[in-house]
Amino acid sequence: MSEGVAGSLGRSYDVVLTCGPEAMMAEVAALCEAVGISCQVSLDTRMACGIGSCRGCVKKGARGSNLCVCTEGPVFDSFEVAWRA
Ligand code: FES
Repeated sequence: MSEGVAGSLGRSYDVVLTCGPEAMMAEVAALCEAVGISCQVSLDTRMACGIGSCRGCVKKGARGSNLCVCTEGPVFDSFEVAWRA
């Protein structure tokens, strides 16, 4: 999958949108970062309340913050996410 993305990145794109397995999105985000293309990711976490109360959907942010996927996402700029946390 990521080889296909890498091959396509020779073209001119303003942004890449990705969803799916987290490892794949991390790879797509890294490829986009390497060539300077903005990347947005759709995170798929388990959600219990969907209103920001249970904190069950929280994902680590790149700057040490917590990203509440149900209320702040589910789509984030790829640089906001701590992929290897
Ligand atoms: S699902 Fe409960 S805080 Fe997001």
